[in-house]
Amino acid sequence: MTPDTSKREFLQLLSVATLALPMTHAWAQFRPSKNPFGLGVASGSPSSSSVVLWTRLYDEGIFGSNLPNENIPLKWEVSTDKEFKAMVQQGQSLAVAGLAHSVHTEVTNLAPNTWFYYRFLIGPYTSEVGKTRTFAEPTSNGQKTLKFAFASCQHFEHGYFNAYTHMVQENPDLILFLGDYIYEYAPGRSGIRLHSGSWCLSLSDYRKRYEQYKLEPELQLAHAACPWIFTWDDHEVQNDYAGLSSGSFGPFTNFAKRRANAYQAYYEHMPLKSSFLIEGLEGLRSGSELRLYENYQFGTLANITMLDTRQYRDKQACNPNSQDGSATVSMSSCEELQDASRTLLGEKQETWLDHQFKNSAAQTWNIIGQSTLFGARVYATAEGKKVWNDGWDGYPVARKKLTQQLINHQVSNPVIVGGDVHEYWVGYLKEDYSNAQSKVLGVEFCGTSITSNDGKNTVSRQRANPHFIYAEGLRRSYCIAELHEESMTVHLRAVKDITTRSTEIETLAIFRVLNGSKTIERVS
Ligand SMILES: [Fe+2]
Repeated sequence: MTPDTSKREFLQLLSVATLALPMTHAWAQFRPSKNPFGLGVASGSPSSSSVVLWTRLYDEGIFGSNLPNENIPLKWEVSTDKEFKAMVQQGQSLAVAGLAHSVHTEVTNLAPNTWFYYRFLIGPYTSEVGKTRTFAEPTSNGQKTLKFAFASCQHFEHGYFNAYTHMVQENPDLILFLGDYIYEYAPGRSGIRLHSGSWCLSLSDYRKRYEQYKLEPELQLAHAACPWIFTWDDHEVQNDYAGLSSGSFGPFTNFAKRRANAYQAYYEHMPLKSSFLIEGLEGLRSGSELRLYENYQFGTLANITMLDTRQYRDKQACNPNSQDGSATVSMSSCEELQDASRTLLGEKQETWLDHQFKNSAAQTWNIIGQSTLFGARVYATAEGKKVWNDGWDGYPVARKKLTQQLINHQVSNPVIVGGDVHEYWVGYLKEDYSNAQSKVLGVEFCGTSITSNDGKNTVSRQRANPHFIYAEGLRRSYCIAELHEESMTVHLRAVKDITTRSTEIETLAIFRVLNGSKTIERVS
């Protein structure tokens, strides 16, 4: 079989696996020896008429999966009531053996702006019931509100995912996950609990790591509560990797192959559209992209543009001794920082983003979801000003390009949300971050981590970067934003503890931005 044939065959299989097949009894023929839905259910990539439903058949034995190495049909159901009496659609999908028996069902022709319940069935077993929804059509003013949570960085060893218990209680319409869904590290020597296995290098290593995270009940609850949209950061592959260049820590290995393994396992465990696999699985294995950047629309109220800051970037600038990974580098002596040819998003994504911004007038709020802190966070040190070269600070020309695009297309109410730094940062998007008088273009809310706990005290750093009006580095949790036509309100939540399964949470601050104002008011 030539690579082209196998690619064609795989794409064909994917289209069969993801679309609604006519109902037969094939789904009932395979009888697993135990409930195979232990990794939960999820939904994602919502539009006004469609959503991706996800699950993965899972039956781990001592020597690997107890499931047969073949594609297994199963049944799915979508209903407007949780008893599944008001069934809207049902069909059959394939759990694809080559994709760890994951299921990505792309349900289409759904009514707009509606909540649905969904579940999967195989033999005598039924999955948990998930809740998902469609949104108003992009030209409709029927989307009166949009409540979305954004979260990132859930290092398993650093603590329990208590944040999700609260997130679910807030009944969000949507969850944005902004990167570091897993951490690829080998088990540490200490931790609240430890990773199993070793470093994630092979496809099987990454799959096992996803299994460990996906088995967390709080995470399953949040996936079952509403649709999610995603971008990733570095730890889904390796700390501080850049494009096809390896990052730091862990055993040396063929990085292109490792990245392909990581990307495949990522696809297998997320409710992503099969069209994100631009070149199918074969393409992914030979190093082609897994396209995550995408625009999602919510009536005329909002659109959310999710960016990929990791897959297409150039290597970090001025690392000492040309080592891999990241470093804090001098702004004055690192000339590479100003190299106009260096990219963070890659040319194709930048052109695509320009097109999105050109059409941005159709919605009131333009949310840009990406993995890290956008605004400058300069460290004033005895040796002069320094920046961390892994974030946007390490790619200032690319940042300037994005802010220039916001100006060129007069994007209305731009709001950048991010994660990665394990600290909350709230501030203004500026045309020129080195000039305090520079024009304000929009606002930024960077969320803390779900658990990853290496955030620092932010007091002196905030003082050195006055375009930020709030920063906090020692607390963990998520943020929740509520959009209305006239205003956006953002709540910074913080759990009391992640070292035990606990339920206490508090609100650190609440901010409001009025439509058209570009001013952040602190409400509480
Ligand atoms: Fe992280």
